[in-house]
Amino acid sequence: MRRKLLVANWKMHKNISEAQAFCRRFLPEIEECDRADIAICPPFTLLTAVKGALGSSKVKLGAQNLFWEEKGAYTGEVSPAMLLDAGCEMVIIGHSERRHIFGETDEMINRKVKAALRNKLIPILCVGETLEERKKGQAEEVVKRQLLEGLRELEYDGEIVIAYEPVWAIGTGVNASPDDAQKMSFFIRQILKGIFPEEKVLEMRILYGGSVKPENITGFTGQPDVDGALVGGASLDPDSFAEIVRLSCYA
Ligand code: PGA
Repeated sequence: MRRKLLVANWKMHKNISEAQAFCRRFLPEIEECDRADIAICPPFTLLTAVKGALGSSKVKLGAQNLFWEEKGAYTGEVSPAMLLDAGCEMVIIGHSERRHIFGETDEMINRKVKAALRNKLIPILCVGETLEERKKGQAEEVVKRQLLEGLRELEYDGEIVIAYEPVWAIGTGVNASPDDAQKMSFFIRQILKGIFPEEKVLEMRILYGGSVKPENITGFTGQPDVDGALVGGASLDPDSFAEIVRLSCYA
């Protein structure tokens, strides 16, 4: 039985005192909820403060990106070892905003996934089609390519999380239907079975992301192949993210 996983993606939001205030309010609200794993992925500048504010709670810390080299002359980049040092256990890789705004390619994303695994960070590999691709009936083909390229020739066999995030549903208020999310998650699991041993795939968590909120979360987490959510906008408010976590615990 896969445990649900709820990940907050704060994107480029919050300062230190806002992040600390979030944790003070959020932690007591989810204390009783021990049937799901929870992670918060703040911007780099908040990692240390959020780690401190999370204290000994069960909430894990994650980052939103990394660079694949260990160290060196890479102005503006952050290495996997630096993320570990800041207390991260996971890292979002290949988010559609990284792909589309910052030009990350499948090849770069593959190098990042490998670097995360080498350093025992759990990669959350994001995949998803644009509206145009969906309209042309290419959604599955695009997601398949992103998976095959992003997960090519992995050297290490650690935990990997996949997040299905249709680009047209991110930050738009227009979520995919639970049925669409289930269909694509099932498809993703089939593709994964061609890459990894079946018993590993059955343990892998596939998240849905794109306009998740308390009002729609149970539709997603109630699906057999959807194991949680990657939440953007609704994770910025402690009450709404706590509600998403609580509802997922009982789905
Ligand atoms: P959203 O973002 O929940 O604001 O749509 C999700 C994401 O980009 O991870």
